[in-house]
Amino acid sequence: MTNLTYIEDLSAKAGQEVTLQGWLYNKRSSGKVRFLILRDGTGLVQSVMVKGKIPEADFAAFDRLTQESSLWVTGLVRAEPRAPGGYELDLTSVHPWHLAQDYPIAPKEHGVDFLLNHRHLWLRSPRQQAILRVRDEIIRACRDFFGERRFILVDTPIFTPTACEGTTTLFETDYFGDRKAYLTQSGQLYLEAAAMALGKVYCFGPTFRAEKSKTRRHLTEFWMLETEIAFAELEDIMALAEALICAIIQRVLATRVKELTALERPLGPLEAIQPPFPRLSYTAALERLAAGGHQVPWGEDLGAPEESFLSESFDRPVLIHRYPKNCKAFYMKPDPGDPRTVLCVDVLAPEGVGEIVGGSQREDDLEALLERLEEHHLPREPLEWYLDLRRYGSVPHSGFGLGLERLVAWICGLHHVREAIPFPRLMDRLAP
Ligand code: 4AD
Ligand code: MG
Repeated sequence: MTNLTYIEDLSAKAGQEVTLQGWLYNKRSSGKVRFLILRDGTGLVQSVMVKGKIPEADFAAFDRLTQESSLWVTGLVRAEPRAPGGYELDLTSVHPWHLAQDYPIAPKEHGVDFLLNHRHLWLRSPRQQAILRVRDEIIRACRDFFGERRFILVDTPIFTPTACEGTTTLFETDYFGDRKAYLTQSGQLYLEAAAMALGKVYCFGPTFRAEKSKTRRHLTEFWMLETEIAFAELEDIMALAEALICAIIQRVLATRVKELTALERPLGPLEAIQPPFPRLSYTAALERLAAGGHQVPWGEDLGAPEESFLSESFDRPVLIHRYPKNCKAFYMKPDPGDPRTVLCVDVLAPEGVGEIVGGSQREDDLEALLERLEEHHLPREPLEWYLDLRRYGSVPHSGFGLGLERLVAWICGLHHVREAIPFPRLMDRLAP
């Protein structure tokens, strides 16, 4: 491991001898010159062996090295403007670690089912590596955004005794034979408790929905970034969601253009993401939809086609606020200006991506919240702790949740969220 160099750092090592470790991506030969294309997780580099300039046994190893064999090599770094990374390696030694068996993923087109069945290997492809790097950057951008604004990270539980987002998408598990536990649909209720302790908080973790829908936007396990703020109203969290999305896009554009380019993701639409984002009430959105030929009766939720229509009619995310009460969760506070609606917001990403953020101002009055529980046929007893938050120093408070995979899919220009998470869980997929 001493003196080990990574491919992404080769530019600082021109003229020097370095040791690289990695895997064989591809190879080719023309007479006395042989080329090994190596990958090490940070990039690809073409390395060259010339007969007579490398021990004979190392030269012969070329024939045995199969795609994805692991190896370590030493060589001299040479600037080569025509090479993909700008550098090549003149090899002085080649040492195989392990010779790979016939690798199932050839550099040809495979069907998506085949690739998903081989997800553990598919991750090695340049495209999947690029997506995972963008995802990593987005996660760090989120943590930095909240950290810089002095929000406190509070981890919420995954086993929960109740639903947060409706009972139809709950995953149930047996809890020691005497109780049922549910996999969390959202950390929100716990985050509300944390906001009453710490003021400004966020959580970021796995979330589960037994979604019986096979769409390109739905996973059964996904990651959600959620925030909750004491004394914040709907307008405050709308502004915060806008600032968060802009900060993430700026960060990715500053650090991950190489990956976006590898993904053939046009940068123009991302560069256009600047505040202010358009804001439309649900009622105004219906008028816009009707003008575009989509008739939605007032009171009905917006479906995927309506969301796509709205999101495609703007060049930046659009904030749709104040939906009818019956479309939304029990905890949302009715709008005093029109109590048929609630103080909520959905952020729809452009380019047909649809909803990436859902948030609201919470009902902070005990009596009103009890009524909402009844309307939603939710049992009161397991939520008594949550009701306590309205008994002991209740304050206006608001928050939102952002779906990480939908954001990654949008930023990377992916058609389906299944590529936006390392090991996707879908209605019909639990492996590998
Ligand atoms: O709109 P949702 O259901 O909101 C909540 O769960 C709130 N409790 C959040 C809060 O206010 N703290 O989910 C939030 C976001 C959605 O906008 C979407 O991006 C993502 O989570 N999401 C999913 N992503 C992938 N697959 C699914 N099945 C998803 N369901 C929601
Ligand atoms: Mg939602």
